[in-house]
Amino acid sequence: MSLSALPGFRDVFPEALARRRQIFGVWREVAKRYGFEEYDGPPLEATDLYTRKSGDEIVGQLYRFEDKGGRDVALRPEMTPTLARMVAQRASALRKPIRWFSIPQLFRYERQQRGRLREHFQLNMDIIGEAGPLADAEVIGAAVDILRGLGFGPSEVRARVSDRRVLAELLGAEFGVGAEELHGVLAGLDKFDKSPEAAAEAVQQALAGDAQRAQAVMDLAGRLGEPGELLGRGAAAPLRECVDALGAMGLGAFVDVDFRIVRGLAYYTGIVFELFDAGRSLRAICGGGRYDALLKQIGGVDLPMVGFGMGDVVLGELIADRDGPPVAASPVQVFVATVGEDDRAAALALAHALRERGIGVEFALKKQALGKQLELAASRGATHAVVIGPDERAARQAVVRSLATKTETRVGLDALAGDYAF
Ligand code: HAM
Repeated sequence: MSLSALPGFRDVFPEALARRRQIFGVWREVAKRYGFEEYDGPPLEATDLYTRKSGDEIVGQLYRFEDKGGRDVALRPEMTPTLARMVAQRASALRKPIRWFSIPQLFRYERQQRGRLREHFQLNMDIIGEAGPLADAEVIGAAVDILRGLGFGPSEVRARVSDRRVLAELLGAEFGVGAEELHGVLAGLDKFDKSPEAAAEAVQQALAGDAQRAQAVMDLAGRLGEPGELLGRGAAAPLRECVDALGAMGLGAFVDVDFRIVRGLAYYTGIVFELFDAGRSLRAICGGGRYDALLKQIGGVDLPMVGFGMGDVVLGELIADRDGPPVAASPVQVFVATVGEDDRAAALALAHALRERGIGVEFALKKQALGKQLELAASRGATHAVVIGPDERAARQAVVRSLATKTETRVGLDALAGDYAF
């Protein structure tokens, strides 16, 4: 039997977990600063929740099976459909705008590569019930502040912001792309960054083989990185307002308007955005946007939504590139050691008293020479050893040894159990 985890799945050893804790800590802290409440949902959903709305790419990556009750089910590949389902249940009772965040583990059968696995954790922050662009600015601001919270500046990460409404207006006005063709054309444009050939093929297919129009759309695709003229169009008013708001928040230095950002998921209807490392060596750190029709389609409730998903894998790679491999901090602060077997009961009582104070304590789990115990204490990264022997017990004291300076002091057992500062 192989000792390895399945391809694309991670065994999370303590040092890797320390890095995950660092990322989750900043996620939760920024979510709190932005006034978001945490929610969660089930990891397994009915497959049609995704087949109806997520788009072909994600549906092709589902971990999907029939459960023992004959239901067609899938491990969640994203959180957004679950969020829409949950909000729909309580839509009238919840005070709008709703600000919710979650950190689900998600599953996608993708080709494994750097920054891309078959499971990942993804922070989701969404605002429900506000159609105006200040809500878009709010979630983009939160995403940028997370990167700032992890120590990245505008020369290291970029937020690329666009709006599907601008593209839809342009494609409609200049190339006669109709509502039925639009989705396919946008899905094709989304591929342009990675592969212009694949994009051209998809666009031509979406335009029913009309090579002339497809070529015109591809010519446009090549110019979408230059936002100047497009940003002046009427349909770009919300985008301009959003970018101005980010500027007023003091985050403008991170933001680029870039109409090449289209997003692969089918449900987006307005502003869309992605955060990237400035060198573009990895997949997007984060992606999101406005999806005002999803709740209606899933739950019959008409409420606008905007939000993003930010994965732990790409972030972990970025942090590792900068800081090197993670190190696990030792939970052990004090090591309680004994001189002989007769000291054990007193040592256990002291260890427990220290733990009651909230101090991380370890002791040897079998009979060991004092020297060996002190070696273990040092290798655990304890700052102090507390040694109890017959003389100390008689005096209701223990020897506190600093493992850094090797200095020793005698301290009363009551003080150690009380407020003695190590
Ligand atoms: P997404 O672009 O599919 O959007 O994923 C968002 C982020 O999750 C990506 O930018 C990436 O950091 C991370 N991610 C996705 N797939 C993988 C993978 N296989 N391995 C590692 N990381 C991955 C969504 O999922 C939308 N539901 C986000 C959203 C929320 N939109 C509105 N609200």
